[in-house]
Amino acid sequence: MIVLKLFSPAKINLFLRVVNKRSDGFHHLSSLFQAIDLSDVITFQIHSQDMLTCSDPGLPLDEKNLIIKALNFFRKKTDLSLKVKIHLEKCIPIEAGLGGGSSNAATALWAMNELTGGKIPLEQLAVWGAELGSDVPFFFSHGTAYCTGRGEEVQNLDALGAVNVCIVKPPFGLSTPEVFKRLSLKAEDSVKRGDKELTAFLRGQWTHFNDLEPAAFQINPELHDLKMRLLASGFQTVLLSGSGSSFFCLGPGVVPPDKNLRVYHARFINRQVGVWY
Ligand code: C5P
Repeated sequence: MIVLKLFSPAKINLFLRVVNKRSDGFHHLSSLFQAIDLSDVITFQIHSQDMLTCSDPGLPLDEKNLIIKALNFFRKKTDLSLKVKIHLEKCIPIEAGLGGGSSNAATALWAMNELTGGKIPLEQLAVWGAELGSDVPFFFSHGTAYCTGRGEEVQNLDALGAVNVCIVKPPFGLSTPEVFKRLSLKAEDSVKRGDKELTAFLRGQWTHFNDLEPAAFQINPELHDLKMRLLASGFQTVLLSGSGSSFFCLGPGVVPPDKNLRVYHARFINRQVGVWY
């Protein structure tokens, strides 16, 4: 019996520009996404019925879970009826802006394809993934990608190397829709794409910014205090990842001891063509 055991990595946003609000309620983004080796582990096994178990008792195991959504979506699109037993070892914190749920969905689509003979091209899996969440297609990239549209238009970039990064998660999470709802965009914001920043980045001038930070800080001002504390601890860069609530920190700092903070030491990772992370 084949058992697939797959990593399901987190992502950070090295920069995130919100370009404007779209008529469908989503926002146009220009963002540099990077996969990191802070990772869930998911095992998949063909079974007589679907069964999902998870190391975190707080996560839903029904259709609210993006893994189940991905299975159902794959079966609908392919007309295959394959059922699977799945165990999710959850390590990526939730409501943290690290893309954990999206990564799980992408990993489930990849696994379903593997278990059924790998007939669906990756590009197609990414298009299907976009229907499950804006961040899902990124995980079909090679791990470093410039993402536009609502995040689902993915342009692969060369790997940036195995850079060390420290992830700091406060004891509360943030809801992505809540953060986006707080944005107040003016008409002239529509010209601000992230292309210039991308060009600079690719020349080695790394600039980090996240247009969602002010909105997240409004929702929970403790986040701003935490950012200041982390910057005072020696890190060169401290930036909210996605819609938060976690920060990623670059450079030689040390997180101040605080029992309320969860700290993860990770590295940038990339995927080889044809294999999963
Ligand atoms: O696509 P996803 O399900 O991750 O999006 C969750 C929510 O985040 C959306 O319903 C929307 O409120 C917000 N969002 C947005 N613009 C994006 C991505 C997400 O407004 N580009």
